Amino acid sequence: MLNVEKLNTYYGQSHILFDVALTVGQGEVVSLLGRNGAGKTTSLRSIMGLTPPRSGTVSFEGKPLQGEKPNNICRKGIAFVPEDRRIFSRLTVHENLEIGAIRERRNGPWSIKRVYELFPRLNERRHNLGHQLSGGEQQMLTIGRALMGNPSLILLDEPSEGLAPVIVTTVGDVIRTVRDEGISILLVEQNSSFACRLSDRAYLIDDGRIRFHGTIDELEQNSELKQKYLAV
Ligand SMILES: Nc1ncnc2c1ncn2[C@@H]1O[C@H](COP(=O)(O)OP(=O)(O)O)[C@@H](O)[C@H]1O
Ligand SMILES: [Mg+2]
Repeated sequence: MLNVEKLNTYYGQSHILFDVALTVGQGEVVSLLGRNGAGKTTSLRSIMGLTPPRSGTVSFEGKPLQGEKPNNICRKGIAFVPEDRRIFSRLTVHENLEIGAIRERRNGPWSIKRVYELFPRLNERRHNLGHQLSGGEQQMLTIGRALMGNPSLILLDEPSEGLAPVIVTTVGDVIRTVRDEGISILLVEQNSSFACRLSDRAYLIDDGRIRFHGTIDELEQNSELKQKYLAV
């Protein structure tokens, strides 16, 4: 459903991504793994049109996306959950979800009621302010808010970052729940053991170049690769 070919992305004069290529199929969870500074966020920003690539192609459900504005890309069914989560700390959980509903929304099954059914914890916390939530609840909220736009693919940028291990487990459950709803996920992570438990396939990126792609088993069996490109 997502097909990325030969992306070359720059920040000013610095060449950051070199011929990055990846695919995500219908209903798949695919990881993009790499160390800090490897080019993971830039890859997501390139797909979303936030940092448009200088060359290469991105297509989604068979249609080209390059040249489209981020809000149009959103409307075509791709949601982006950035690393910093962007929760409104002075709005309640419920208000944060309402804002998700007025943004670039497509027609589809998701409503606040359905998000609460999926994440009962958010329902319990509906009157709490953003800053009163735990890291895991915040991640639930950003994903819930993304669902309000009725995406068919969610790009998740380091959802486990900065969370205690027990909360990382909760976030893993949240990602599985979303996958079980038939939504595809491109999961960007430095935490490869977390990502591999959730994913069908993985890509390794280093220095702006894809160094490996394959199944999780293939990656798990290749300790040299993991040593070289991941902080294990
Ligand atoms: N806004 C920016 N301007 C210039 N260079 C940037 C900018 N954002 C990121 N970079 C550089 O691009 C490279 C890739 O960064 P990034 O995609 O954020 O990596 P990752 O998400 O894998 O940690 C790094 O060398 C980083 O310093
Ligand atoms: Mg990043």
